[in-house]
Order: sequence, then structure tokens, then C-alpha cells
Amino acid sequence: MDRVERIALVSSAVLMAVFLGALVYAATQLRISVPTCVTDVTPFKHGQVIDKGNRHYEVHMVAKMWAFDPPEVRLPPGADVDLFVSALDVTHGLYIEHTNVNLMAVPGSVNSARVRFDTEGEYSVICHEYCGAGHHFMMGKFVIASAAAVPPPAAAETGVALGQQLFEQNGCNACHTIDGAPGLGPTMKGVFGRTVELADGATKVADEAYLEESIRTPNAELLKGFQPVMPEVPLTADQVHALVAYLKTLK
Ligand code: CUA
Repeated sequence: MDRVERIALVSSAVLMAVFLGALVYAATQLRISVPTCVTDVTPFKHGQVIDKGNRHYEVHMVAKMWAFDPPEVRLPPGADVDLFVSALDVTHGLYIEHTNVNLMAVPGSVNSARVRFDTEGEYSVICHEYCGAGHHFMMGKFVIASAAAVPPPAAAETGVALGQQLFEQNGCNACHTIDGAPGLGPTMKGVFGRTVELADGATKVADEAYLEESIRTPNAELLKGFQPVMPEVPLTADQVHALVAYLKTLK
């Protein structure tokens, strides 16, 4: 065998051994796991956090236009998280800052990664796959704090508080500001009772019936100057009432 050929063969063998060693080192010592596409988990439609005990959590994250469900996950420092990600509508991305979690959220499939949060703080969750007009607003977060330091927000049951929660959870706030600032959709500040101009030039007063209708069938009566990009969010009648109750408080 030619000398140069031998050098090439030996050095490629050494290189492969170094790569394999690096993989084993990363997996066992640095606890870095390669993202996996899980085939034995049925794609889910709702996000949830499951406490498995011993600071081990399973997080089911659903990406949708243009929010993550759950929008905020609160865990104690040292939490070991098995993260499962799916999507409702189109393909989204999921990157958690300051971690090596970088997954695709694909409708009809589940991707998974394992991550450990040792340091307290806020970790933004960012959609890194262009998913439509509200893509750049699509964010969530992990809040890592000991339970004593930050009590979890109480779950709202009814009325205005529930409406506000739904408004944030479903990503309405990505496109509709509540302070009058311009956004992708019309601002919700003072929306109740406002006279709105529709795309065809007709005007209408935004009463309860109009607001409910606009939430249920978003693009049926477009406002002048806006695009038909609002996704239809599956909500129960009670949830729509709560949202409208909340909108009425935005004076
Ligand atoms: Cu979701 Cu970009």
C-alpha cells in the first residue's frame, strides 16, 4: 500500500474515533441529547406540564399561530424536563434560549428533547420557522424559580380574568395590542362600542354580538385596512363570553 494512502486511511480512522468519542462524551458527561422524532406518542392538541416527582417534568408543548401552549412554564431550579413538541396548524420552530433545545414543531408528529434547567431565570421560547404573518410575535417562556420565590399565577375560572388568560394563551396579544399601539390586527383598546369601518366601506358598532362573531369567524367581516390572516381558534361559548367580557374592560 502506498505510504500516502496509508496516512489517509489511518488519519480518517483516527478522525472517526475522535468524533465517536466526542459523541459519547457529550451524551454521558455533558448530558446533551440529540433531538428525536418520537413515533410512539400520539400527537396532542393541548399543552400540559406533568410533574413526575423528584424534579422530573414532562412538558407537552403545542405550537400554533401564533403562540405556544402553555405560553409560560414555571419550574423549580434543577428541573429535568422531557419536552415533547407538536403543532396544530403549520410547521413552527421551537428554540429555548440559553439551552441547546432547538426543535421543529410539525403538525401530526411529535419531536422531543431533554433539557435541565439549573440556573434560575427566564428563558424565552422562540419560534424560528416562518409560520405566517404573526411569526415574529410568536414567543413563550420558561420561568425557573423556586416555588417560594414566585408563586404560580392562580388559574382564572370565569369572567374577565379568564378572558384575559385566554387572550394571552391563544396568542391574541401577538397581533392585537391593548394600549392603542398599531399591530397586525386592530388594537383592542376601547374596542367595545367603537364604530368600525368594514372593508366594503360600511360601518358597524362593535357591540357584544359583533365581537363574538369576530372571534368565531375572524375573517367574515374584515375591517378596512387589515388582511384576512386571523386564525380561527376553537373556543367554547363560555370562553368566547369571557373574552368579550375582558375586551369590554379595555377602555
Ligand atoms: Cu410559529 Cu414562526
